[in-house]
Amino acid sequence: MDIVSINFQENNSSITRKAKHLDICIDAGLYHIESTISTGFEKLKFVHNALPEVSEAEVDTSMSMLGYSVSMPVFISCMTGGSDGGFAANCALAEAAQKWKIPVGLGSIRVLFEHPEVLEHFQIKRIAPDVPVLANLGAVQMRELKHADIVTLVEKLKADALVIHLNPGQELAQPEGDTNFKGLLDPITRFIRSAPFPVIVKETGFGIKPSLVYRMLEAGAAYVDIAGAGGTNWMLVESYRQNPQMPDLREDFADWGIPTAVNLASLGESTKGKVLASGGIRTASDIAKAIILGAESAGIALPLIRAYNDDSSSGVHNYLTVINRNLRIIMTLLGVKNLNELRGVSLIQDSGFKNHVDALKGF
Ligand SMILES: Cc1cc2nc3c(=O)[nH]c(=O)nc-3n(C[C@H](O)[C@H](O)[C@H](O)COP(=O)(O)O)c2cc1C
Repeated sequence: MDIVSINFQENNSSITRKAKHLDICIDAGLYHIESTISTGFEKLKFVHNALPEVSEAEVDTSMSMLGYSVSMPVFISCMTGGSDGGFAANCALAEAAQKWKIPVGLGSIRVLFEHPEVLEHFQIKRIAPDVPVLANLGAVQMRELKHADIVTLVEKLKADALVIHLNPGQELAQPEGDTNFKGLLDPITRFIRSAPFPVIVKETGFGIKPSLVYRMLEAGAAYVDIAGAGGTNWMLVESYRQNPQMPDLREDFADWGIPTAVNLASLGESTKGKVLASGGIRTASDIAKAIILGAESAGIALPLIRAYNDDSSSGVHNYLTVINRNLRIIMTLLGVKNLNELRGVSLIQDSGFKNHVDALKGF
């Protein structure tokens, strides 16, 4: 199945922009949109246990999140909606989320304020009634839109939480981006405090420094998803959208951001139970390491949309099947029966990783 449906054209409506983003993200052969720095997970090693004293059958990967019981510490990160391809993808991702009992995020609902006619693209709660469905909106819109209108829309979608994304790098890389980041903290904090549903704050692939994570949690965010560097890099996506031939943004920003594993390891005890890991999460071992480093759950974006593009719903299902099977194998090999026990496991860290984490703690 191929969801490439549009030509690159001079039309900057939010729907066209989202469709172009999708086209770029799924074409791995043409566009190199992943960060040139790694997440840092590869610098952490498990210690193999040759006598684990655990039966694979008793391994339990389940947990609870936002009042739902979910089958494993994995969620589908916020991605699409608006374009026809995005709608089809949202439906397939929601079906997979319902089948696997894992949370699923929607792409930014900003488009609905300009094009209310595509509301249906975001009404996926009916496909995924038994799992958390996460609506999504940019921080900049917290300053522009009436908070009451945002609340009404999230409730209309029957979403279980709103994810506010912070994406200054992407905005700066867009010719039409909103590059004024003044006066955002206050409306975000006010919204979090007054919203009648849980609010999650996330980046989109460059990480969130420790002091800002603490600040968002103090404001009352249900979770902070650090969405660190090592996976999709939105300044690279934007550079291809504008001019595939010109490497100008790519030279400076291909390695921008705080690597996901380093970001997680830099956070103190006070964040336990409230941090989500995403950005470059590709394998079950990334997920297990993220949980050991203190994340509640780990989010995946790019591999799932590519799996969907390659092989429709079966592509998404097969990807999640491998993640689930390998996570169970890892937990068995480590001799742990559940996620609480996994959180108690130690990893061997290389000295470069430790130094990077220690330096980041001061920020
Ligand atoms: C096609 C696509 C569309 C995305 N759209 C959104 C969005 O609307 N809102 C958002 O917060 N993040 C969006 N993201 C960012 C992801 O949620 C995630 O933070 C980022 O891609 C890093 O994860 P990854 O390395 O697994 O892709 C999008 C990602 C992809 C691949």
